[in-house]
Amino acid sequence: MHFSTADIIGLYRQAAHRIHSGERVTHLAHAWQCGRLAEKSGASLELQLASWLHDVGHLWSQPSAPTTDPAVKGHAALGSRLLEPLFGLAVSEPVRLHVLAKRYLVTTRASYARKLSPQSLRSLTHQGGHLSEDECDDFERQAFFAEAIQLRIWDDLGQKDGWFEITIQDALDQLEGLMQSVAAQCVT
Ligand SMILES: [Fe+2]
Repeated sequence: MHFSTADIIGLYRQAAHRIHSGERVTHLAHAWQCGRLAEKSGASLELQLASWLHDVGHLWSQPSAPTTDPAVKGHAALGSRLLEPLFGLAVSEPVRLHVLAKRYLVTTRASYARKLSPQSLRSLTHQGGHLSEDECDDFERQAFFAEAIQLRIWDDLGQKDGWFEITIQDALDQLEGLMQSVAAQCVT
């Protein structure tokens, strides 16, 4: 499937006025907030980009459907398949693992589930719920385990109503610049 950085910009431009299902922010604001949280934490450019684009599978597969739709169950896998040829594993793997990271955190940290938004708690069931001990062990052995956990935490925090200190065009320009930087240093 052919997928380009221009397609990505197009998807996020379309998403600029759509509310992220069940949450209080638009898809673009959510993506920007996650990227900004990663940047403020000193994350690598690849992890900043993964944070920006972690829900691209939602935007690509279900442009107008709610995230509880069963078809979106695989949005992490779909997003990672779209991103790997463009940006490599350092971007695609945290994206692929970010739903598993939520299931891992719910399983291993008692306080984590209490902080999830109602929408995120609802989608947990569709996403498979808690992990078994073996599944937790497998997940911890993933090369991008730590990055996936980080991304997941920013994903949960990036739902702040009213936090979008930028114009839509400037946000898209920032994304474009970040994609160019990562693609330039990516060896796939
Ligand atoms: Fe998200």
